[in-house]
Amino acid sequence: MLTTVNETRAALADRGRIALVPTMGALHDGHLSLVRLAKQHADTVIVSVFVNPLQFGPNEDFDRYPRPFDDDVKLLEQEGVDFCFNPTTEQMYPTWPSTTIVSAGEAGRILEGEFRPSHFDGVLTIVAKLFLITAPDFAVFGEKDAQQLALIRRMTRDLNIPVEIVGAPIVREPDGLARSSRNRYLEGETRERATVLNRALEAVEANAHEGAQAALAAGRKVYEADEATIVDYLVLVDAATFAPVDDAFTGDAIALTAARLGTTRLIDNRPVRVG
Ligand code: PAJ
Repeated sequence: MLTTVNETRAALADRGRIALVPTMGALHDGHLSLVRLAKQHADTVIVSVFVNPLQFGPNEDFDRYPRPFDDDVKLLEQEGVDFCFNPTTEQMYPTWPSTTIVSAGEAGRILEGEFRPSHFDGVLTIVAKLFLITAPDFAVFGEKDAQQLALIRRMTRDLNIPVEIVGAPIVREPDGLARSSRNRYLEGETRERATVLNRALEAVEANAHEGAQAALAAGRKVYEADEATIVDYLVLVDAATFAPVDDAFTGDAIALTAARLGTTRLIDNRPVRVG
């Protein structure tokens, strides 16, 4: 296990084609699918496990975020990962609060960014740092966090970072709930209700041939049947630009949603062909 920046740089020297899989731990099958994809195309796979304080807001779940680190290490060993990078906050942020950050700009202030101000600046900053520390040939990110993936792609283009960004499909539970470390917060009846996000997205998809407005109305109806869930957003964005679509739009879109069940906030998305 690697804990410092210097030993990580030294360990990765002359290791061929390197793949990085950034995570915050509490690993599940979604994370492991990224690791498996990385292994297929790399000589050396490094997985980072770091709960990044810079991407959490003051009232968010940084303190209670699950940290089952020993279980994570076992899972990574089983997958045959070459290195696990588990730095301290002091290693990652020699100056705290961090004075230099990467800005996600306007695109980081919509959708998730509207509900989590500065979240994406924190994500892009840590991902840029991980890229500089591990200098990977490619890095794998899940489509589960679609806006995050889009912003990371944009950052590597904008800043000429020589890392190929690979997206991996969403892994779901048998009942359709997207796998997430935060699913550990869900208990009993709340866990059962959590499928509402996926069901709303399915309804959007099923009605997408009638246009964006009709599709979103069908999705909202699914949510309305579940009074206890607070919907932060349910939108259709252009898959190419991430801009919200108008009713005249036809083509490839992504339906994105975020909702709160009690104290747990979940996100999900689904590619949809509109029109
Ligand atoms: P984390 O939430 O731990 O997710 C790590 C990676 O796993 C992300 O790329 C995420 O999209 C992917 N992932 C999570 N659940 C998934 C699922 N059900 N199917 C497919 N992929 C899934 O995302 C972060 O951490 C952080 O923001 C990070 C990028 C590590 C920066 O701190």
